[in-house]
Parts: sequence; C-alpha cells; structure tokens
Amino acid sequence: MAKDKIMIVGGYGAVGRVIATRLAEKFPGQVIVAGRNYDKANELSQATQGKVLPLALDVFNAHNTPEVLDGVSLVVMCLDQPDTRFVEMCLRNGVDYVDVTATYDFIVQVEALAEVAKAGGSTAVLSVGLAPGMTNLLARYAQSQFDDLQRLDIYALLGLGEVHGEAAVRWTVENLNATFTVQENGETRQVKSFEDGKQTVFPGKLGKRTAYRFDFSDQHVLPRTLGVNSVSMRLAFDSALATHLMAFYKKIGLFGLLRYRWAQDALVKLLMSFHFGSEIYVIQVDALGRVNGQIQEHSFAVTGEREARGTGLVVAEVATRLMTDDLPPGVFHIEQLFAPLSLINALENDDLQFHQSANRGVVSA
Ligand SMILES: NC(=O)c1ccc[n+]([C@@H]2O[C@H](COP(=O)([O-])OP(=O)(O)OC[C@H]3O[C@@H](n4cnc5c(N)ncnc54)[C@H](OP(=O)(O)O)[C@@H]3O)[C@@H](O)[C@H]2O)c1
Repeated sequence: MAKDKIMIVGGYGAVGRVIATRLAEKFPGQVIVAGRNYDKANELSQATQGKVLPLALDVFNAHNTPEVLDGVSLVVMCLDQPDTRFVEMCLRNGVDYVDVTATYDFIVQVEALAEVAKAGGSTAVLSVGLAPGMTNLLARYAQSQFDDLQRLDIYALLGLGEVHGEAAVRWTVENLNATFTVQENGETRQVKSFEDGKQTVFPGKLGKRTAYRFDFSDQHVLPRTLGVNSVSMRLAFDSALATHLMAFYKKIGLFGLLRYRWAQDALVKLLMSFHFGSEIYVIQVDALGRVNGQIQEHSFAVTGEREARGTGLVVAEVATRLMTDDLPPGVFHIEQLFAPLSLINALENDDLQFHQSANRGVVSA
C-alpha cells in the first residue's frame, strides 16, 4: 500500500479543519480527518467534495492498533493527549508527526522519544502553530539580528470576538491559575499566570498594552534551543478592559475556584458563548541585546485575523514541508528545522503580516 496519507487527529476541530482544507488542496484524496464523531468527519469530507477522507478514531485508545497507521506518512495532532503512547507508535512505525500542543510537560515527554524517532526513521516537529510556533520562529529571527541576544519578551494578543475551539479554551482555563518557572538571567524563577503585567507596543492601532504571564511552552523551550538566558511569555486580549479584569480576578483569588472541575466547565461554557471584540491576533517578540557593542531593543510581530486560522496555516505549511522535503529523523522544535523568514514569507499571501521595528515604535516591514 502506498504510504502517502496525512492523518489529522482532531481534524474537524477549529484548528484541524483549517489544516485539513488547506492540505486537501495540495494533497487531494490523501488527507484523513479523524475524531471520535464519524458524522462530523464525514460532514467535512462532503464539504470538501471528498478531498478529505473521514475516520472515526479515539486516539486515547488507539496505541495498540498500529493498523490505523497503514498507508499513513504523517500524523498531525490537534488535541492535548494524556500520554505519549500514540506518538511512540507513530515514531516506531516510520510515521512523521506534528503536534500543536502548548503544554510543556507533554513536549518534554515527546522530546525523550528522539532515539525512537531516529531508529524508526521518523521526523517529529513540536512547537507548531502561533504560540508556540510563530513565537519560536520570531525568536530565532530576532536572534539573527543581534551579535549577542540577551533577553526575549514574547506576547500573544488574542481577539475575544473569535469563536475559539473548545480544546483551546479549556487549555487556557486550565492554565489560568498555574504557577510555573521561567528563566531569568540564567536562573529559574517562579511566576504565576495573569500576574506580573508588562507593557509593550503592539503594531498599528493597538498601541501600548499590558500583558500578563501565561504558561505557553515556548518560554521553556527557547532558552534551550536558542541558548538565551531570559525568556518570558505574556498574554493579552484585544479588549484592554477584559485583560485587566482577568488580572483583577486573579488578584482577588477568584481563579482559585478553578481547582474544581465544575468551575472549569462553567467558565469554558461561558467563554465559548461570549464573543465581543475583534478576531485579530498579534504574536510579538521584543528582543534586547547587543549590536556593534551597543544595547538595542527590537520588536518583531506577526498579525492576522482569527487565531485558529493562523495556527492552522502554520501547521499546514510545516506538514507540506514534511511531505515534500527530505528532513532528518528525530524530534525537533519548529525553529530547529525551518528558516523563519522562508516559513513566514510563504504565509504572507494569507493575510498574515510581518512587522519589525528597531528600538520600539513598531512599523510594518
Ligand atoms: N500552537 C498553537 O498556536 C495553538 C493555537 C490554538 C490551539 N492550539 C491547541 O490546538 C488544540 C486544538 O484546539 P481547537 O481550538 O482546534 O479545539 P477543538 O475545536 O475543540 O478541536 C479538538 C478536536 O479534537 C477531537 N478530539 C478530542 N478528543 C479526541 C480523542 N480522544 N480522539 C480523537 N479526537 C479527539 C475533537 O472531536 P471529538 O470530541 O468529536 O472527538 C475536536 O475535533 C488544543 O490542544 C489547543 O491547545 C494550539
């Protein structure tokens, strides 16, 4: 059997369907959308005139059935998994693997499968999407603009007008009350979600905004992949009021309730039914370092509409390269395999805009 299929797990979800429809244009008849609900997979198949193929699959119970991978060249994972058993099955069976997760603990577990991937001849790419993903690429590009990069402050600004997928909303809610460690001047320091606000200047009309700590995986990965001593990651919403309200709720201890599952479920439901504001997203990296002996600060950003779409476009581009290019076996982060500008430029026709500025005051490139 020809091994030419791309299986997108979570393929009819908010991110997965963007990837599926994009890849279906390039690889018609080779894209499988998998999820637990066959009818939803079939609906997407019909909407693409059969260019994507439907599959009922519960990936949490598929690790003992390698036959589901028959004919599959690449798996794209669009959901958070409780363990790496399915990933390991892919890598052992010579199937390439892409994961959109922003959960660092899981990423570390997949990194530990590097030898399995090499032995199986598989390439796994982690940190794929916008945050992580585009953040990692902008960080690597930023580093190339300095003689000595000393600090990276990463920001994601998300529009509250967008209908986000349930898995993405749940991940955000689960992390609202997180305590985690970050690298600062080479030392580890404990920080908490939605505390320690910092101002930056976002491109265009957004201007100066405050963003708060959040536990995206990129800030843990980049000190290792780029060798930078200080990396932070903060989140803001298009509504400054909503951003400040979240910080206020955190301050008065309201998010303590999120240790209860019912409170998480209620907040997920509320956020899923509540849309006001725009659909904009901004992914930005502020970098500080030395150029020609002088300390300088530069900003690099990517802006676009609809975060799920932006995420899916990055993933589809990475998946395309895995299908067409000769890449080494092993486990990699996006910035370790791809030149940042080649990937960003490939997406600029899709309303995704790249901005850079020297010493603040962001201007479009
Ligand atoms: N890197 C980034 O920039 C970035 C950005 C956004 C989101 N994300 C991540 O992307 C993931 C997907 O987000 P989303 O917004 O697309 O969420 P979503 O719309 O809820 O999609 C998740 C999909 O996974 C499927 N699924 C859930 N459990 C499954 C299982 N056991 N077996 C097979 N399929 C299963 C769901 O369908 P059924 O329930 O019907 O099975 C659904 O189609 C999340 O993990 C999120 O954190 C990453």
